[in-house]
Amino acid sequence: MLRTERLCMRFGGLNALNNVDVAIHTGEIRAIIGPNGAGKSTLFNCITGVLRPTSGRILFAGEDITGLPPHRISRKAIARSYQITNILPGATVLENVRIAAQSRHHAWSLLHHHRSYTDVIDRARDVLAAVGLAGKEDELAANLSHGEQRNLEIGIALATEPRLLCLDEPTAGMSVTETHAIVALIRRIATDLTILIVEHDMEVVMGLARTITVLHYGEVLAEGTPTQIQADPRVQEVYLKS
Ligand SMILES: Nc1ncnc2c1ncn2[C@@H]1O[C@H](COP(=O)(O)OP(=O)(O)OP(=O)(O)O)[C@@H](O)[C@H]1O
Ligand SMILES: [Mg+2]
Repeated sequence: MLRTERLCMRFGGLNALNNVDVAIHTGEIRAIIGPNGAGKSTLFNCITGVLRPTSGRILFAGEDITGLPPHRISRKAIARSYQITNILPGATVLENVRIAAQSRHHAWSLLHHHRSYTDVIDRARDVLAAVGLAGKEDELAANLSHGEQRNLEIGIALATEPRLLCLDEPTAGMSVTETHAIVALIRRIATDLTILIVEHDMEVVMGLARTITVLHYGEVLAEGTPTQIQADPRVQEVYLKS
């Protein structure tokens, strides 16, 4: 589904990504872990078009998407949630998701014609049910709890009907209960999605991903199953120990 080939992102003299090769299969939940500054968010920024890589290639469903701007990447059905929340606080929960559903117009879709308002609202309601916010649709987004806002953000991403969803630290700042809820949510939505997740909470990572990629100073340090990664002395040295 997604492949990077010798992906490099330099900021001045800093190699934020250095010859990164990753291959994510359709339907997979892949976790990206690594210490602060390892290049995890930079990888997401390159995949979603926020940054133009210095060199290398990004292939999505066989198509070269390297260096495309964010709106064109979005049309390829790649969505993300940000490390910092991205919602419209003054709009209702339903409006937040409806606007995202409205903006959806993927080239691959069979529904090329304009969608009716009721279709969009139905889609928005389905998404709110999926992210556990069905009872909150008329609430202002600003009035949601932190955890609910993070769920709403995932809902906004889902409303664009992505095939690949990139989640950057979705449990950041969440309570234990909220974290458990979001893990359940990610499992639920993963049935017809490919998910890339950057996450520091190892319990979350181990519970969701079958394959983990470890970044360190912009390079892939290790890749393997949760058991392999936990037992890898190099990973323990740079990451798991801290
Ligand atoms: N736009 C930018 N301009 C210059 N340097 C940047 C930029 N974005 C990231 N960097 C640098 O690139 C390196 C990788 O940063 P990145 O944000 O990708 O790390 P990360 O793995 O997401 O870390 P964290 O776990 O703290 O979120 C860091 O040294 C960072 O300071
Ligand atoms: Mg980051």
